[in-house]
Amino acid sequence: MCGVFEWDLKKAEWYDRALENSQYTAVFLPIITQLVRGAETALDVCAGVGAFTLPLARLVPSVTAIDCSDVAIQYLQIRAKRHGLSNITCLKVAWEDFKGGPFDVILAAYPADCVVGSVEALSRLHRMALKAVALILPVTRKQTDPPSRRVVAEDVRGYLGDLGIEPSTAVFEYDFGQPFLSRSEAREFVEAYAGKSSSSGPALEEWLNRSLVQRAQGFYLPIKRKSAMVWWKARPT
Ligand SMILES: C[S@@+](CC[C@H](N)C(=O)[O-])C[C@H]1O[C@@H](n2cnc3c(N)ncnc32)[C@H](O)[C@@H]1O
Repeated sequence: MCGVFEWDLKKAEWYDRALENSQYTAVFLPIITQLVRGAETALDVCAGVGAFTLPLARLVPSVTAIDCSDVAIQYLQIRAKRHGLSNITCLKVAWEDFKGGPFDVILAAYPADCVVGSVEALSRLHRMALKAVALILPVTRKQTDPPSRRVVAEDVRGYLGDLGIEPSTAVFEYDFGQPFLSRSEAREFVEAYAGKSSSSGPALEEWLNRSLVQRAQGFYLPIKRKSAMVWWKARPT
């Protein structure tokens, strides 16, 4: 297994549909657009189905996207083709095994902990980037029992501090909800993410009644998200 997120075709389709309807990516684009100015190459680490790869490919002549999931990389290729983008190299490879670079700009949005979870990991990103590194990260740790160890923006700022790097940070709150074609699809979605046993029966039906918003075509599950963008210039010019 690579990372904690396991893709399958259904999840890729849901995510694709959510991306087409959400503010995710759009809220970060003004900063990304500034950062990539003049860049010839960009790397999207843990690209998934290409939430940021596609916008990057509209701004930068050559983009490389890497992800350890076969499904994600195949779906990213489909999305790139659908959007008429032919300047993306998609590689199914774990970050730990990736040998490429350097790149002008490196971006990682909600990456695996091994990409950002230590001083060594951030040092690797810093050394691989010629102009800038941009990270999009959760702000708060999930309330789990035992407590989640997931890396959040504050941790990353601490590791960067140890490297003598003072990054810029901006926090955004936005809607990253999920559209559904039907109520049964919404149920399938919750079961796929929360597990059948922990979410079923009357409690799930009641939750769907409370949470789903009816739309002209199907339903919408609003999901609020708060993320930090942490970025820095890789080398002073
Ligand atoms: C939460 S998703 C984020 C995807 C995308 N950046 C986005 O914001 O939509 C994390 C991604 O990291 C990938 N991943 C996990 N561990 C990885 C590793 N060690 N090397 C490369 N990719 C990895 C997963 O397959 C998944 O696509």
